[in-house]
Amino acid sequence: MTRAITNLGVDGGRLWADIMALANITDPAAPFTRRSFSRLFADGRDWLTKRFHEAELETRIDAAGNLIGRIEGSDPRAGSIIVGSHTDTVPSGGRFDGIAGVAAGLEIVRVLRERKIALRHALEIVDFLAEEPSEFGLSCIGSRGMSGRLTAAQLQFSKPDGEKLSEALARVGGEPARLAEAKRSDIRAGFELHIEQGTVLETGAIDIGVVTAIVGITRIEVVFEGKAGHAGATPMHRRHDALVAAARLVDRVRILAEESAAQGRGYFVATTGVIEARPNASNIIPGSARLIIDARSESREALVEFRERLDRESLVLARAASVERPRFETLSDTLPSACDESLRQLLKTAANGLGLSFVDIASGAGHDTAFLSHIAPAAMVFIPCKDGASHCPEEWCEPKEVAAGTAVILEAVLEFDRGET
Ligand code: GLV
Ligand code: MN
Ligand code: MN
Repeated sequence: MTRAITNLGVDGGRLWADIMALANITDPAAPFTRRSFSRLFADGRDWLTKRFHEAELETRIDAAGNLIGRIEGSDPRAGSIIVGSHTDTVPSGGRFDGIAGVAAGLEIVRVLRERKIALRHALEIVDFLAEEPSEFGLSCIGSRGMSGRLTAAQLQFSKPDGEKLSEALARVGGEPARLAEAKRSDIRAGFELHIEQGTVLETGAIDIGVVTAIVGITRIEVVFEGKAGHAGATPMHRRHDALVAAARLVDRVRILAEESAAQGRGYFVATTGVIEARPNASNIIPGSARLIIDARSESREALVEFRERLDRESLVLARAASVERPRFETLSDTLPSACDESLRQLLKTAANGLGLSFVDIASGAGHDTAFLSHIAPAAMVFIPCKDGASHCPEEWCEPKEVAAGTAVILEAVLEFDRGET
């Protein structure tokens, strides 16, 4: 485990209490669940808004639905520093993914207030809207908006009950008609603390991961249409079973991903995380099937090639199962993004100064920082998490680990504020 660390300059107990309080705003039947756009998500944001007010932050929701708490800087021309992450969760997720990064920002503000430190830059704590893939099939909605990458077509995505993303965005306080105003040009540095969601730090007993790059993520929706029919009375040779094509595609996704990973172009993974059959009854041949495939890589070329192969092969599978493939749609397609080298250096210097060990590490998970990095220098700190478990209730890290990551960002913010002119 990591070393006993004391005197980090942040209040680890207060930080931990915030994380637990927010985590406990959950669906009791499926801890820890606080899906974006849900009632519980709104409850979590109400809780956070109160904490922002207590910390005397000027609080607002921007046009892209991000909840932002701000302290003005002493130099109005200096621009802003952002610290943030997200408070939404996956279904039955964990207590730390996202939450820890928002709580870290809040703790940094409290420490600055207590030490009566006024920064030259404005400091903003951001709860980015819907970092996890929402019911609209889209992730990182708030950070896409803040970086000018939330498209008009994406605002038309709808969730199963028919609500459009534009409507849901307005429901949580965003302004889809003024989305352009959410795009920022004043951010000079962005920092995000996150659990590693892997085992590199835990295995190596290393305190801090300084992220090098975040994978690109391509999400593709595929729909097969066949013909529903009686499961007992339809002979095998007369079937148009959409789920048969879908099942074969799940297998191809895995094989194509394994082949890509073996090609030596860096990290590559792909997952079929959604499969829906209709009408989904035991005695009816599935008339339609919908899949969502999530592919990630450090290599843009590898992702493009995967998508092309999947396009070709899904058509072949449709033909073989005597069904149609009416939809092959790229829902989202983010570029692999590198973290800013000078901010990474500041984080390393901060870790060093605090007596913390650190290592360079790539992120296989997506993060809001990937979008932020299109409009500003941005960097991430990873902290260890137990057994690499994440997106599950077992997700865990120790109080001193979150405190250590927060202290590193605090020191980096202070140094950046001192240094940048
Ligand atoms: C976000 O957690 C993602 O990597 O999907
Ligand atoms: Mn996540
Ligand atoms: Mn996350």
